[in-house]
Amino acid sequence: MTGTVREPNALAQELFAPLAETYDRYAFLLSLGQDARWRRFLVERVAVGPEDTVCDVACGTGAIALALARRHGCRVVGIDQSAPMLAEGRRRVEAAGLAGRIRLETGRAESLPYAEGEFAAVTSGYLLRYVEDPAAAIAGLVRVVRPGGSVAALDFAVPGNPVAHAAWRAYVGVGLPLLGGLISAGWREVGRVLRDSIPSFYARYPLGRQLADWRSAGVPDVQARALSLGGGVVIWGTRA
Ligand SMILES: C[S@@+](CC[C@H](N)C(=O)[O-])C[C@H]1O[C@@H](n2cnc3c(N)ncnc32)[C@H](O)[C@@H]1O
Repeated sequence: MTGTVREPNALAQELFAPLAETYDRYAFLLSLGQDARWRRFLVERVAVGPEDTVCDVACGTGAIALALARRHGCRVVGIDQSAPMLAEGRRRVEAAGLAGRIRLETGRAESLPYAEGEFAAVTSGYLLRYVEDPAAAIAGLVRVVRPGGSVAALDFAVPGNPVAHAAWRAYVGVGLPLLGGLISAGWREVGRVLRDSIPSFYARYPLGRQLADWRSAGVPDVQARALSLGGGVVIWGTRA
C-alpha cells in the first residue's frame, strides 16, 4: 500500500475503516497523549454557547464533537466519509448521553451538504492531507459558518527547531510505524502513511500557505499556534 499513488480520499477510506473501534485508544497512545492536548486547545478557541450549533468536519469517532458539546454545551453536527468511524462515533455519543446534542452524518468535506452560514462555528481535525484540493476544502469549511463565527482546525506539523526536529524525526520516522506494528497491521499502515505523509504534506502545503488560504477564504484574522514543540498545529480565526 505504501508508495502507491492513490487518490487521498480513497486512501483515507481504506486506512480508517478497520481502525474505528480502536481509534481513540491508540490515537491517544501513539500521539503520546498530545492528541488530547491539541483537541482541548482547539475547543477553547471556538466561541459558541449552548444555543449554537457547530459543524465538525471529518469528525471520525466524534472526539472533537464530544469535547465541544462538553465544554460549551453546544449542539454539534459531525460529518465524515467513513461509515465505520461514524458507527463508533455514534456509540460513543450514546454512551456519553449526548445523543440529543450531537448528530453524526455521512458526507464528504469537499461537498458539505449545508447552507451558506448555517453554523455558528466549524471545526476539523486531521482533514486536509486526505483531500485533493486543500484550499477548496478550506473555502468549503468557511462557507458554512455565519459571518462572525469561529473556524478552528488542528493537524500534525513539522517542528522547525533543529533539536525538536531530530526528536520528532526519530519518533515519526521510526517509532510510530514500529509501535503501530505492535498493535495491528492496520495501525502499522497508519504509522507508515503518517511517516511519509506528515513531512510530504507539510512540504507541499506549508503553514504560511495554509494561513494564506484561510485568509483568502474569508478569515482575515487567522492565526496559528504550534503545540508539542511543533509536532501539532491549531489554526483558528473568525469568518469576516
Ligand atoms: C485521523 S481521523 C480524525 C478524526 C477526528 N477529526 C479526530 O480528531 O479524532 C481522519 C478522519 O477524516 C475522515 N476523512 C478523510 N477525508 C475525508 C473527506 N474528504 N471528507 C470527510 N471525511 C474525511 C476519515 O474518514 C477519518 O475519520
